[in-house]
Formats: sequence, structure tokens, C-alpha cells
Amino acid sequence: MYSANPDRYNKLKYRRCGNSGLLLPAISFGLWHNFGEVDSIAKCKAILFNAFDLGITHFDLANNYGPPPGAAETTFGKILKEDLGRYRDELIISSKAGWPMWPGPYGDLGSKKYLVASLDQSLKRMGLDYVDIFYHHRPDPNTPMEETMSALDLMVRQGKALYVGISSYSAEETRKAAAILKELGTPCLIHQPKYSMLDRWVENGLLDAVEETGMGCITFSSLAQGLLTNKYLKGIPEGSRASRPLGNGALEADQLTPENILRIQQLDLLAKERGQSLAQMALAWVLKDSRITSVIIGASKPEQVQDAVGCLDKPSFTNEELNRINSILAS
Ligand SMILES: NC(=O)c1ccc[n+]([C@@H]2O[C@H](COP(=O)([O-])OP(=O)(O)OC[C@H]3O[C@@H](n4cnc5c(N)ncnc54)[C@H](OP(=O)(O)O)[C@@H]3O)[C@@H](O)[C@H]2O)c1
Repeated sequence: MYSANPDRYNKLKYRRCGNSGLLLPAISFGLWHNFGEVDSIAKCKAILFNAFDLGITHFDLANNYGPPPGAAETTFGKILKEDLGRYRDELIISSKAGWPMWPGPYGDLGSKKYLVASLDQSLKRMGLDYVDIFYHHRPDPNTPMEETMSALDLMVRQGKALYVGISSYSAEETRKAAAILKELGTPCLIHQPKYSMLDRWVENGLLDAVEETGMGCITFSSLAQGLLTNKYLKGIPEGSRASRPLGNGALEADQLTPENILRIQQLDLLAKERGQSLAQMALAWVLKDSRITSVIIGASKPEQVQDAVGCLDKPSFTNEELNRINSILAS
């Protein structure tokens, strides 16, 4: 039986999520990949126990994580039942719906019918009475936003979610969602966008909207799915994400262009000069903005989580370093 490291709260920093009462670890852990039916439960446990032992209290899931869709929640539910469930009150567990999950018109996008049914399924798979955060996973241009937000409000009123959030909404959609939820009496806790050195769209207005509306912000793919680590400096290693045809937006070999590799090699040199790994520099770079509450990392090995947490040992950048990063990225 797993017993958590008694020193687990001595390493990580916990940052306030927007204007809320909730503190999230600067590094959170996501189960998009590596927690499907094909992955050994022993390996899944090793990664999750290591994360919790390092002080990572927040685990991010979604209805469709697998493969097959739903499998990551089933795996996580099994691990909760056997081991981690004893620590439920120390855990922030999130799920989402918004991408295709089951056939027919009610298994995708943003209707109340889809979101409410999906959360019930997620709770069953994880063996939980409630999730801490439930997200609408992506904007739905054809459902009135009032309907989607009223589904989130309902979940909170039913006690099936403590907080709600949105993912990948534009700045304008974020302001609208925040206003509707405020009117309903359920604040929007958090926004979950993609953000890394290689994808900086949030800098064009979204971070301003998040701050203005008092939400927290938790980023995904901040290691660009492994590109911003030392993994691909010398080609594509066997078993890595880029070596497997996973689909659904997962990293593909054709993203490893000669230009990208050159940039990554130059960034790796700078990280070495700063005395940290490239993954650590990439995470510290995202976390330097105080509007970012947390970064969700993925990992296929416990050592990768250990590496990520080390980013907090060297969190700040000189102006010269930031200028050098900008010129590498622009080259
Ligand atoms: N809201 C959304 O729409 C959305 C979308 C995507 C993700 N997410 C969330 O964000 C989480 C993270 O996303 P992500 O997996 O794309 O994030 P990521 O942290 O950018 O990439 C994770 C991958 O990078 C590699 N890696 C991590 N640390 C490493 C290290 N120290 N050295 C070498 N390689 C390392 C591993 O690849 P290998 O597996 O090849 O070892 C790992 O699986 C997801 O699990 C999910 O919870 C949300």
C-alpha cells in the first residue's frame, strides 16, 4: 500500500488561482497521454505517486483521455480506489467535456445535454462524488454560451463540481463566459489555454482578459509535448510521443523541422548556461508571468516529473536572457 512522502509539502510553491480561495501547485500533472488501456498500471502508479510525493496536488483529466476515450479516468479511478483515495482531501481533480466522446448529436461540443451526462460518466469512471474543477473543453460556436454556462452552474449547484473553468476560449469568449457565470452566481475559476515558448497566442489579449475577470490561468503543452526538452535534440527516440502515430493533436514527427531543431539546440545551450535543463527553463519561462497560476505537465516517466519540479530552483530571467530567447524564437 502506497504511503505518501511526509515531506511532500516542502518543495513546491502553491499559487492563488485568480481571485479565488484555491491554491494550485505551480506544477500540475495531466493524464492526456500514458494512462490508457495499453499502459501498465504499475507505471501509471509510479508516475502519480512520484508526482504527489513531490507536492503535486492537482491532477488534470478529461472525458476523452485514453486511449480509448475514458480509459485515463478509469485508470485514475482504480489508483484512487487502491491508493490515492486516502488523500482525497489533499487532491484537486479536474475533468472536462467538449470534444467528441460518444456517437450521435449529444456526445460532443457544448450543449447542456452533453456536459451534464458527461460529468456523470466521468464521476462513475473515477469513483468520485464530485470533481474539484469541471471545464468546458473548447468553445462551441453553435450553442448559445448561456446554455453551456448554465450547465456549468448546474454542476456546482448539484455538488458534482466545486469550481468550473473554460479551455481554449478566445479573449472575447472568456469575457463573455465570465460575465454570464457571474450573473448566474458561479464564478469562472480558471482558464486552461495552450502556452509555450513555441505558441504564444495567449499574449495577444487572453492573459489580459483572464486578469481583468479575476480568473486563474493554467497552461497546457508548455513543453510543446516534449519538443522543449532535451528529448529530440538528436532525432526521434523510440517510444517517444513523436515516434507513435497518436493523432488527436499529439506531437507528430513533421513538427520536428530543421528550423525547430536548431531553435531547440540554441535554447538548450542557454538553459545549460543558466544551470538548468531545457524543460526546466521552458516551464520557468511560462511561470515568470504572475497571471499564470500553474503549468500542467505530461510525463511518461517519474524522472520527467522530478525534472519539471526543479524549474522552481531557478525561476527568474535577466532581460538579456529574455531577449536572447526572443531572438532564438524569431530566427
Ligand atoms: N485543455 C486542453 O485542450 C488540453 C490539451 C492538451 C493537454 N491538456 C492537458 O495538459 C497536460 C499536458 O499536456 P502535454 O502532455 O501536451 O504536455 P507537455 O508537458 O508539453 O508534454 C509532455 C510530454 O513531454 C515529454 N517530457 C516531459 N517532461 C520531459 C523531460 N523532463 N524530459 C524529456 N521529455 C519530457 C514526455 O514525452 P514522452 O511521452 O515522449 O516521453 C511527456 O509525455 C495533458 O495531460 C492534459 O491534462 C489539455
